[in-house]
Amino acid sequence: MENFTYQVPTKVVFGQDAESQCGELIKEAGGTKVLVHFGGHSAVKSGLIDRVCKTLTDSGIKYVKLGGVVPNPQLSLVREGIQLCKAEKVDFVLAVGGGSVIDSSKAICYGLGNDFDVWEIYEKKATPTKFFPLGTIVTIAAAGSETSNSSVITNGKEKRGTNYEMSRPLFSIMNPELTKTLPIHQTMCGCVDIMMHTLERWFGADGKYSELTDSIAEGLLSTVMENALILKETPKDYEARAEIMWAGSLSHNGLTGCGNGIGDWSCHQLGHELSGMFGYTHGATLASIWGTWARYVYKEHPERFAKLACDVLGIVPAEQKENEDLYEDDLTTEEIESIALEGISAMEDFFKSLDMPTSIHELGTELTDAQIDQLAINCSFNKTRTIGQFKQLDVNDMRQIYSKAR
Ligand code: NZQ
Ligand code: ZN
Repeated sequence: MENFTYQVPTKVVFGQDAESQCGELIKEAGGTKVLVHFGGHSAVKSGLIDRVCKTLTDSGIKYVKLGGVVPNPQLSLVREGIQLCKAEKVDFVLAVGGGSVIDSSKAICYGLGNDFDVWEIYEKKATPTKFFPLGTIVTIAAAGSETSNSSVITNGKEKRGTNYEMSRPLFSIMNPELTKTLPIHQTMCGCVDIMMHTLERWFGADGKYSELTDSIAEGLLSTVMENALILKETPKDYEARAEIMWAGSLSHNGLTGCGNGIGDWSCHQLGHELSGMFGYTHGATLASIWGTWARYVYKEHPERFAKLACDVLGIVPAEQKENEDLYEDDLTTEEIESIALEGISAMEDFFKSLDMPTSIHELGTELTDAQIDQLAINCSFNKTRTIGQFKQLDVNDMRQIYSKAR
């Protein structure tokens, strides 16, 4: 098992009507004047913003509102938010929305806590020392930003992420009921993203994995797969939405990677460039590229893919799974590789069953060679970095993966 640090200080308030507690939670945290930050339409249309504002008023808390966060949130609105908070002497930020709203709020909190330009943090040119108090009300199960240490912001077409422990929210309110208004496509994009946060961690190191963490990861993946299929048939199923929502937070707070290294994250890096250049939904970019990435790298440690195939995707009949030495002793390398490949196809079939893309053209663009070159250049930060842990990928590898996935 690899060494690790695991600390998730976010208070989670989960379940029906949980949002009615937000005023008291902010008061508990010492907030007196709040920025209520939200997206384009959904939270206003559903009446959630009005209800939240009433709760704040009932708790004696003042507020200002700033809506308009777009998916793949833009730096320009972050800057507007920072100015507004300073002018209004806001002392607490409340994100009401999905990963985009929460990440925009996190960027505002960095901007308020530090006296340099916030984009420098995302460009890795400056290190934040302070973070403003943040709470969230989650309206989509997907990014996991409500308990994660990450945030991802887009500046024009450049999408960049940053991770600092200080950016985990003080509290996150999760009411699965609030996700019932989501279009089915967004729901499924969210399910893929949740799975990918555990899958990226699954492929984190070179053989030193924690048995317990693997079991947690397998349980989470199976739960998301089962409940995603339920939601495809019955999108308003509360229990299925609750399972997915809880999985969304646990998948990205670090739990499913403890002891397994830092994770691979290649698909996220490759996917961010597709969102940056074309604006595609995050979860869909991950589905479009995962299978190609997997086939490109699986020979590094085919037994890791074989374990996923057997334990999560049901490739090997249950009675054979009883044999603990299955992967090392009983099977030849060719057999392990064959199971690995079957697993990769099974995962792609599962994505297809959710109507998710498994190639880039299904996202809506027939990539030209010039676009592929540009994506690889962007993803390699102009040839200055590699990505991935399971297999390190340089600019040529990136180019090949985009090309094979197109
Ligand atoms: O703007 P509105 O009208 O609210 O519409 C949103 C948006 O169009 C809609 N929506 C949200 N809740 C809804 C709803 N529609 C109806 N009913 C509801 N209850 O859904 C659309 C997508 O929202 P968004 O917040 O963009 O989704 P998601 O949570 O998937 O967040 C995606 C962003 O998070 C980043 C992604 O890269 C992307 O920018 N990520 C953030 C991470 C983190 N901070 O830890 C990790 C992830 O890997 C990811 O990179
Ligand atoms: Zn993600």
